[in-house]
Amino acid sequence: MARILVTSALPYINGIKHLGNLVGSQLPADVYARYERARGNEVLFVCATDEHGTPAELAAAKTGEPVADYCARMWGVQKEIADGFRLSFDQFGRSSSPYNHRLTQHFAGRLAEAGLIEEVSEKQVYSNADGRFLPDRYIEGTCPNCGYDRARGDQCENCTKQLDPTDLINPRSAISGSTDLEVRETKHLYLRQSAMRDKLRDWIESKTDWPVLTTSIAKKWLDDGDGLQDRGITRDLDWGIPVRKGTEDWPGMEGKVFYVWFDAPIEYIGASGEWAEATGQTDAAWERWWRTDKGADDVRYVQFMGKDNVPFHTLSFPSTILGSGEPWKLVDYIKSFNYLNYDGGKFSTSQGRGVFMDQALAILPSDYWRWWLMSNVPETSDSNFTWEGFQAGVNKDLADVLGNFVSRVTKFARSRFEEKVPEGGAYGAAEEALIAELETRVRAYEGYMEAIELRKGAQELRAIWAAGNEYLQAAAPWAAFKTEPERAAAIVRLSLNLVRLYAVLSRPFIPDASKAMLATFGLETAGWPGSVAEALGALKPGQAFTTPEVLFAKITDEAREGFAAQFAGTA
Ligand code: 2FM
Ligand code: ZN
Repeated sequence: MARILVTSALPYINGIKHLGNLVGSQLPADVYARYERARGNEVLFVCATDEHGTPAELAAAKTGEPVADYCARMWGVQKEIADGFRLSFDQFGRSSSPYNHRLTQHFAGRLAEAGLIEEVSEKQVYSNADGRFLPDRYIEGTCPNCGYDRARGDQCENCTKQLDPTDLINPRSAISGSTDLEVRETKHLYLRQSAMRDKLRDWIESKTDWPVLTTSIAKKWLDDGDGLQDRGITRDLDWGIPVRKGTEDWPGMEGKVFYVWFDAPIEYIGASGEWAEATGQTDAAWERWWRTDKGADDVRYVQFMGKDNVPFHTLSFPSTILGSGEPWKLVDYIKSFNYLNYDGGKFSTSQGRGVFMDQALAILPSDYWRWWLMSNVPETSDSNFTWEGFQAGVNKDLADVLGNFVSRVTKFARSRFEEKVPEGGAYGAAEEALIAELETRVRAYEGYMEAIELRKGAQELRAIWAAGNEYLQAAAPWAAFKTEPERAAAIVRLSLNLVRLYAVLSRPFIPDASKAMLATFGLETAGWPGSVAEALGALKPGQAFTTPEVLFAKITDEAREGFAAQFAGTA
């Protein structure tokens, strides 16, 4: 049994995420975690809200709540939505947790001892109109790298370059829009990432199996010269993790907090601590996932994230881990994603463009979204959400292929064989051909899922459903029943077993439907198929079943038009 640690990029606390955010980290991470659990592996899957920094402060200022209250409330909102999408986190933590405070201060202390932190008197942008410093997102302007005119002080959304507020051309305050800005001196801590260049390069170059998207971004910033600049890891903000050197005060840093991008990835570890505590375990329980001196050397650690997050996970966070000089677990595989567009344009949180996670759940069941998003996951290029495409995907794959198969076989079986798996008859050439095809396809499906090629995994799963549907159509037990009831019995027995097999195989993608399919046979779980031939004999003659409700209702043209109109207006 392998041990697999899975983390999804932490969603910012400020507001509800859209489907593009969901498909760029949390959902594929969930599908993979579910798959690995189904294979019998030991999985720890954690995520958390990313609560510090200017986005949280700006959002709280808008609603008028104290920022701590705002974060606590929004954590609850995000947690409920994550549950609605059936995201199977072992822990959905908070980057403001005591664990993260302790760990972040601990890492800073270790980095300081290793000589990797420099105290720098630096120039910061101060806004006269707002009466405060403007770190990170408090400032906007034109990107010096690509010319994008709404780049933020910490990163350009367009070209992913990490920036400092003083790099921006034509800067303005994000609070007031004021351009009455000046540069003032203040002291901050810098992480000497540049001292880590060789170590980082060796490490990244050793990762020959990583997706091209990940390594190309990592190498670009590594070689770019200033991609690996020393980074300021402290800020003049109230909300955040107070700057301390381990458990000691840090003279000169009073009133300052760590930069959000310094503490956020450390929360992957923090959330694992929160998990151990929430499940009544000791520290040893999370340490065996994170400390190679305490059992984590046989863990495979996989991270999921959108491409804009790659520099932070290939350069900054590894600098923290490697620089600490302690035996912390480094990531083994970084799965990154391109963007999902909405109807040819960008999903936009600020402009309310696209479908947001709460809205999606309010109109249709989560499996519909999960299936469409994962069968169109932007792995090798950006992909595009349209209502027509969504309707077609749901109606064809889920309703016409899988749903139709389950409903035809269970209804026919009920009418002819009562609600029991029939006995009699033997599997013949058609069944053998189907079993051979499925044997190949199931192994291919496993291969894609293990390689985290999830779009291909979804395609293969669809082909597995289609094979059963075609078999049933050709075998036509309704015709055979009249002349050869034994033959019909064999077809129905095989087909009912297929329903069970489909439930097992489909569970990572569509957990609710899978549950309903298993419940047909009074089952809560069923093991992963060793061989298909064996799996198709799992339900024995006489085993009772019920006919499930319609698994997937089709999306009508009228409903589709209604949704399109409803969501067009939000821009
Ligand atoms: O880009 C984002 O949405 C960030 N909140 C991701 C943080 S990932 C991790 F490092 F915490
Ligand atoms: Zn740019």
